[in-house]
Amino acid sequence: MNSTTHSSGRSYAEVYRQSAECPEEFWLAAAEAVEWEKPPTRALDDSAALTYRWFPDAALNTCFNALDRHVRDGHGDRTALIYDSAMARAASGTYTYAQLLDEVSRFAGVLVEQGVSTGDRVIIYMPMIPEAVIAMLACARIGAVHSVVFGGFAANELATRIDDAGPIVLVTASGGLEPGRIVEYLPIVEKAMKLSSTPPQTVIVKDRQQIPGSAADYQGRTSAWLDWDALIAVASPTQPVPVAATDPLYILYTSGTTGKPKGVIRDNGGHAVALTWSMRNIYGIGPGDVWWTASDVGWVVGHSYIVYGPLLAGATSVLYEGKPVGTPDAGAFWRVISDHGVSALFTAPTAIRAIRKADPDAREIAKHDISSLKALFVAGERLDPDTYAWATRILDRPVVDHWWQTETGWAICANLRGLQPLPIKAGSPTVPVPGYRVEVLDDNGNPLPAGTEGSIVIALPLPPGALAGLWRDPERYSREYLTKFDGYYLTGDSGYIDEDGYVFVLGRSDDVINVAGHRLSTGSFEAVVAGHPAVAECAVVGVRDELKGQRPAGYVVLKAGVDIDPETLRRELVAMVRDQIGPVAAFRDVTVVPALPKTRSGKILRKTVRQIVDGEKFTVPSTIEDVAVLEILEKQLRS
Ligand code: COA
Ligand code: AMP
Repeated sequence: MNSTTHSSGRSYAEVYRQSAECPEEFWLAAAEAVEWEKPPTRALDDSAALTYRWFPDAALNTCFNALDRHVRDGHGDRTALIYDSAMARAASGTYTYAQLLDEVSRFAGVLVEQGVSTGDRVIIYMPMIPEAVIAMLACARIGAVHSVVFGGFAANELATRIDDAGPIVLVTASGGLEPGRIVEYLPIVEKAMKLSSTPPQTVIVKDRQQIPGSAADYQGRTSAWLDWDALIAVASPTQPVPVAATDPLYILYTSGTTGKPKGVIRDNGGHAVALTWSMRNIYGIGPGDVWWTASDVGWVVGHSYIVYGPLLAGATSVLYEGKPVGTPDAGAFWRVISDHGVSALFTAPTAIRAIRKADPDAREIAKHDISSLKALFVAGERLDPDTYAWATRILDRPVVDHWWQTETGWAICANLRGLQPLPIKAGSPTVPVPGYRVEVLDDNGNPLPAGTEGSIVIALPLPPGALAGLWRDPERYSREYLTKFDGYYLTGDSGYIDEDGYVFVLGRSDDVINVAGHRLSTGSFEAVVAGHPAVAECAVVGVRDELKGQRPAGYVVLKAGVDIDPETLRRELVAMVRDQIGPVAAFRDVTVVPALPKTRSGKILRKTVRQIVDGEKFTVPSTIEDVAVLEILEKQLRS
């Protein structure tokens, strides 16, 4: 660890040690970068452990910290948001901090007029347009709790989230623009409202000129459907409402091992402190820097690093509506960097693999001036060494992997570019971030020696910014994360730590899969597939995919006596998954098999199925019911 240190002169090791040995002092110092209505006098509240709370006696407003304070301090003319749409170029534009503050405070006024107050939930189902960011910040401004649902989810998934969150208002747009097709949101929203047992009383629609459908078309059918532009034109600006640091800022649903998504709760105070700290120390980004996260506001990466992180830091955030390839070509990312002088880009490895596939010699780069770019950050899935090597070669800049999850909200392991850049090792997101005490344990909870693979866990308490629990389900939070190993949070990932303290994350050890950086649950696929009348039983596993890292593949056993053409069955199942989960599921592969391997207690051995398909060595589980099934499957799937 011989690299240069931050201008503060402190090394990573020193800062990490302080965070572990004196967390109170460390986090109270970090909290000074946030402006509080009531500053914290203490950092950690462990009175309700295993549920910990940060900054228990403090109050603040997150939106005030993201917008008002920058305007008050004379930076109102600085660009806050650059909306770059590769799908609707004419709609692209910028917002200064003053303009964004104006829009946000007026939309906050709209929400108040619709009866939303502190603690109420608002669902945001929107494409990548500035109004999505405005709606999120407007909720934060009045202390309402937003829950953003990714636009690639179908009505059924939206309805599940509506029922769990219990929103008063749903904010949406007429639709999204995907390459070659328009996604009309309003029929999806209406269907979700009908499926929901507690539909919100009001739907607010941002009418996008390019997409058919408006609030007027739905008036009088369900709830009140209102037009965004009409409401905001007459809205009064609303002042930020201080909330307790421990109050929820948002709920973000993520996939677990069962089909039912879990609502990760993020608080206000810990989140603001952690993200502010991360912008400077992990990413090396400060006021006025142009920062671009190519993700979607529907994912945690979008929450933390399209919206809150860069704005808390006073930076300029790029909101990109488009893809890495095909909008219009594999130079799309280089064009955005050049057009806006982006100094750091954060995306998922899949995006880099997609660019490489379309432009293996990176000829598109030469057509753009990307001299502003200092580093590429990636997360969301494993960065395979081959993609790392290619990206490093074509960019000739640091390619920095970092590992985190929806639950943590910010990086667990990273190469902290703003603190002390460390040598990069391909395949590793480098070292634990201060605040995270990462260990690798065997199945009995014993620490494993360097280089030995096991469960990656984080010693409790988790740092500020990490989840404050699961919405309306504290029991599930405890069961799924806290009970397997006493005193530790279970990440669900497996991997190892090497002799230098570098963490290597190898993949999930549960039934969560990661498709193009999108987290999905095999359980929810199986619930849909099992609903087909011809299917007796099924297993859906994440098999290796060159572009998307993993893709879902279904293995089905037909009911006795059923005679169905396999291609017809495949098409029907693909359509069912698309209809019930959404296009983002990217489900295309279905194989009919004579039987599935099971334990004697009837549990399907999904991991073994995946290992067979991926051509990996596997050991026959001692609990297997019928070993002959494995032999038949191996013959069929590996032929
Ligand atoms: N709204 C509606 N539909 C959406 C959507 C959205 N917001 N996002 C994706 N979809 C649809 C796609 O149009 C596609 O539909 P199709 O089956 O009709 O073609 C389907 O969901 C699957 O999408 P995806 O898995 O993204 O595959 P793709 O072939 O369209 O694109 C990539 C491939 C590599 C270009 C794309 O996955 C990508 O940009 N990945 C980067 C990863 C990323 O940003 N991850 C975020 C977490 S950090
Ligand atoms: P999500 O909650 O959607 O962000 O997905 C989190 C999961 O993605 C993690 O538990 C990991 O399995 C995987 N993941 C995210 N970042 C990385 C990374 N840098 N390396 C390896 N896996 C990652």
